[in-house]
Amino acid sequence: MLATPPIAEDDYLCETTASQKQVESTIKPIYEGLFQGIHPGEVYDQEIATDSHLKFLEYFMDNALPEPFYRLDASQQWLIYWISNAHVVLSGNDLSEDMKKKISQKVNALIVEEGKGGIAGGPNGQIGHVASTYAAVLSLILAEDYGTLDRIKDNMLQWLFTLKNKDGSFAMHPGGECDTRSTYCVLVISSLLDLPTQELWRGCREWVSSCQTFEGGFAGVPGTEAHGGYTFCALASFFLLGRRDCDFDRSSLLRWLADRQLSLEGGFSGRTNKLVDVCYSFWVGASFALMEADTSESALFNKQALISYIANCSQEADGGGLRDKPGKSPDLYHTNYALCGISMAEHSYRNINGDAYTFEAHELHEGSSYTLPVSPVFGIPLRYVEKYRAHIEKK
Ligand code: FPP
Ligand code: ZN
Repeated sequence: MLATPPIAEDDYLCETTASQKQVESTIKPIYEGLFQGIHPGEVYDQEIATDSHLKFLEYFMDNALPEPFYRLDASQQWLIYWISNAHVVLSGNDLSEDMKKKISQKVNALIVEEGKGGIAGGPNGQIGHVASTYAAVLSLILAEDYGTLDRIKDNMLQWLFTLKNKDGSFAMHPGGECDTRSTYCVLVISSLLDLPTQELWRGCREWVSSCQTFEGGFAGVPGTEAHGGYTFCALASFFLLGRRDCDFDRSSLLRWLADRQLSLEGGFSGRTNKLVDVCYSFWVGASFALMEADTSESALFNKQALISYIANCSQEADGGGLRDKPGKSPDLYHTNYALCGISMAEHSYRNINGDAYTFEAHELHEGSSYTLPVSPVFGIPLRYVEKYRAHIEKK
């Protein structure tokens, strides 16, 4: 028996409960339809429309985006990363030679002053940006263009120092916003490029720790609201810095993460009283994977329910691509993070040294995974991180 009775529903219809009911009204019929005729104990086989999604991604590899997408002009590095990473994660194959060449050319054209100004998100005088640089570095690793990274890495260190704040955080660009996203991106860039980090990272751990909120999750900056995206950035940052026991309160974080999985939908929300969205399959799913690695548990969330949400509620099975939720259109951002989220559900992760590089992934259902094991720190398949690391260590 519960010591405290659950809080009674007051039936007061506020904006968030109305939106939640509306989403549930689109999800419930999908599941009711599916489970008709299925008996308790029987397993429903979840199908991912691999061929359709690969075709969807290949279309965007070969064709310019239609005109309304001019709004994404500053996000070109992100688009390259989402398309190429999603393709590799789902196909299990390296990118074609043609795609690798396109990535190298595009990224090289947007490198600012040989890396002294970072990498820009788009052309025509745009300045370097930490998030664009993060996405560009990941894309170059997927394209196995290590020469470009070797050429600009030392210059990049100078630029990263110009973005460092006294409190231990980093800015997105000079004068830009400073939060757990920009800080995580700087840690990824400097760690992957094997730059000298002792001075660069001074104060960073303490600043990221100060972003954990009373709810248990992490906020973008101290004193604001816990959110799945920022929680991923914070938790992955601790592995990049080298995980220590004092980094955060583990039990309140686990409690908050567990509250992210919605009972009807099976997918995750990003924060308290908000709606399911498939991109949190990675932001929250990878946070769970990092906690699994931290605690030696193999399933801290309902992995089958997450796959069920992705397969039944977020796939555009015919035209390809994955979407936030029913009623929305598929897009490249949600496609990449839904597929990376499937990887978090299809694998369990172990971490050997409390760092970003010694993850081992185990398939939960051997031989039947749709996705490659993705690094819960870097968001690209483990094998590309390992291969690039071997290149760095050989030098
Ligand atoms: C929506 O907020 C925000 C997102 C869906 C993205 C969150 C992701 C991050 C902060 C991680 C970014 C990571 C990198 C590496 C830059 P919302 O208020 O529109 O959505 P909500 O209602 O679901 O909270
Ligand atoms: Zn989303």
